[in-house]
Amino acid sequence: MKKASISSISEKSFGKTSSGQNVSLFTLKNENGAMATITNYGGTVVSLLMPDRHGKFSDLVLGLRTLREYEEKSPYFGCLVGRFGNRIAKGAFKLGGKNYQLPANNGPNSLHGGKGFDKVVWRAVPSVAKLGPSLRLTYTSRDGEEGYPGTLQVTATYTLTNRNELKLVYRAKTDKTTIVNLTHHSYFNLAGHGHGEILDHVVTLHAGKFTPVNKNLIPTGKISSVKGTPFDLLKPTAIGTHIDEDAAQLKFAGGYDHNWVADKPVGQLGLIAKFEEPKSGRIMEVFSTEPGFQFYTGNFLDGSLRGKAGKIYHRRSGFCVEPQHFPDSPNHKNFPSTRLRPGEVYKNTIIYRFLKGK
Ligand code: BGC
Repeated sequence: MKKASISSISEKSFGKTSSGQNVSLFTLKNENGAMATITNYGGTVVSLLMPDRHGKFSDLVLGLRTLREYEEKSPYFGCLVGRFGNRIAKGAFKLGGKNYQLPANNGPNSLHGGKGFDKVVWRAVPSVAKLGPSLRLTYTSRDGEEGYPGTLQVTATYTLTNRNELKLVYRAKTDKTTIVNLTHHSYFNLAGHGHGEILDHVVTLHAGKFTPVNKNLIPTGKISSVKGTPFDLLKPTAIGTHIDEDAAQLKFAGGYDHNWVADKPVGQLGLIAKFEEPKSGRIMEVFSTEPGFQFYTGNFLDGSLRGKAGKIYHRRSGFCVEPQHFPDSPNHKNFPSTRLRPGEVYKNTIIYRFLKGK
């Protein structure tokens, strides 16, 4: 790749939270001119500029204009999700013989850690690493915060690499046995945010199994083959091809909003998904170490949100790929465990890599 400039990271104010905490917005630029803005409020990616097949840059993530809007009405745009990504049925789980109750924030269920890691201010240390500009975020979640046991020390390092990747590395440690399931929640539109629905994007998911849900989007506990279902996206398929088929699983969610089981070995970084937007020629590959990932097609967006540059975000105008452990894992013994004990280190790496197609 031709080098456009040297990589850099700069910081400016993004305002104060409603409780008076100062928040920054960091601008990361890599050697190819790709750019990301990231705020330490919720570890949120506010914008991500990548080239199309002709080298024209567009902002590929949905986002809001102000910190206040992120505090008040963000549907988890671009944020760091924790302590527990996705749903825990009725907010209840058992750990070490003890029952825990989390506040419900999604019908009867707990979603994305409650008033979680997306709604706190992280300590931020910018640097320029060999790979590219990097932002190291740290947060200590107190014992009992949002109902979870154990003081959890979390580090999330975001790097905009010189290979046009957004690389996210998470680490966590606890002082009491707890549960952890962190992920990233950008809504992507490879044609550019605010450029209509994502149904023409061609998706490949390297996952032969998924975890079916009930009408509250809680896994039933089954791990099913995608064969013969609209969830078979093993071969390149336009997102819109099967999304409105008459299938109960799709009806529950108004489209795709499910956890797939990654084919690659758990704990190893491997390719889990690929997306190609035919008009711009942009390609995004997703790599992860996690056992699964939520593929969500923005079914709950409804055109009521005005985002960056005044864009209206309609239903299915962005999609999320959230590498993680399976939803509601603490209540399913057959799912990989999300337990973290004192002395252990939680590790999770996610890479969103951007390429130019023909
Ligand atoms: C969930 C959706 C939810 C969305 C939040 C996704 O991870 O699976 O059901 O609506 O996050 O906006």
